[in-house]
Amino acid sequence: MDLGLHGRVALVSGGSAGIGAAVAARLADEGTTVVVAARDRRRLAATAAELGPSVHPRTADMADPDQCAAVVDWTLRTHGRIDAAVACTGAAPAGRLSDVDEEDWVLALRSKLLAHATLCRAVLPALATHGGAAVLVGGNAGLQAAPWEVLAGSVNAAVLSLARSLAAEYGTRGVRINTVHPGPVDTGRWGLLTARVATLRGVSEQQVERDTLGSLPPGRLCTADEVASVVAFLVSPRAAFVNGAHLAVDGAQQKGRWGL
Ligand SMILES: NC(=O)c1ccc[n+]([C@@H]2O[C@H](COP(=O)([O-])OP(=O)(O)OC[C@H]3O[C@@H](n4cnc5c(N)ncnc54)[C@H](OP(=O)(O)O)[C@@H]3O)[C@@H](O)[C@H]2O)c1
Repeated sequence: MDLGLHGRVALVSGGSAGIGAAVAARLADEGTTVVVAARDRRRLAATAAELGPSVHPRTADMADPDQCAAVVDWTLRTHGRIDAAVACTGAAPAGRLSDVDEEDWVLALRSKLLAHATLCRAVLPALATHGGAAVLVGGNAGLQAAPWEVLAGSVNAAVLSLARSLAAEYGTRGVRINTVHPGPVDTGRWGLLTARVATLRGVSEQQVERDTLGSLPPGRLCTADEVASVVAFLVSPRAAFVNGAHLAVDGAQQKGRWGL
């Protein structure tokens, strides 16, 4: 199916790795010009080079309003418009309430809720000039709370609420804002979470992996590309009447059977 994204311009925060890089690759495959933003200049440049000439790196901390606005301004000056924005930053440490401290809360809130809100504030006026779309990547912990994901659950539930507020406000101006909520996805971040939960529980990483797979009816982790396909559909004109929606991409994970 042609998604109708050829010739469009997209901005992907957190586009140097994991889900964000997969989204950038998917959009570039559809003929979209993609600007990817992240903090680590070298990793970002390497990812952009790998993804090809239609992917353009901009180094920025996307939770910082000035740096985020500079990326949006550069994109508008260089490419003339922005049709799609995808927020993929985030780094919530795993753990129960007693396992995380104030620094963890600030990291989780800043790298995701604040970064997503900052991107929306900077980019939605540009999307509103000709009816664009945004997707905020949350996580299924925001839909299905679990003790070991107290930070991810709290932040992702807030991301969902942020998107629904903005969808109602900007829907009147032709902009659509939706959220996608992955379960466990095979990215570098998931490996770090597995290691941390294993340490906190005092069990092996293999045990945590077995518990995770046991909660996933397909018996495997999701791939970043599988999340990216859903994101690409949602920012495309094929999803023209989908606004304020939240879509789990988690293989019907049963957290009650997670065994953690
Ligand atoms: N992987 C999973 O299993 C899973 C499950 C559910 C939800 N999610 C969510 O999906 C999103 C992406 O996860 P992922 O697994 O793809 O993570 P990842 O592989 O760690 O990639 C995160 C990306 O975000 C960038 N980033 C982080 N903070 C940033 C900031 N302040 N400004 C700019 N860029 C920033 C990182 O680059 P720099 O560090 O260089 O900035 C990197 O490009 C996160 O919101 C995560 O919570 C992931």
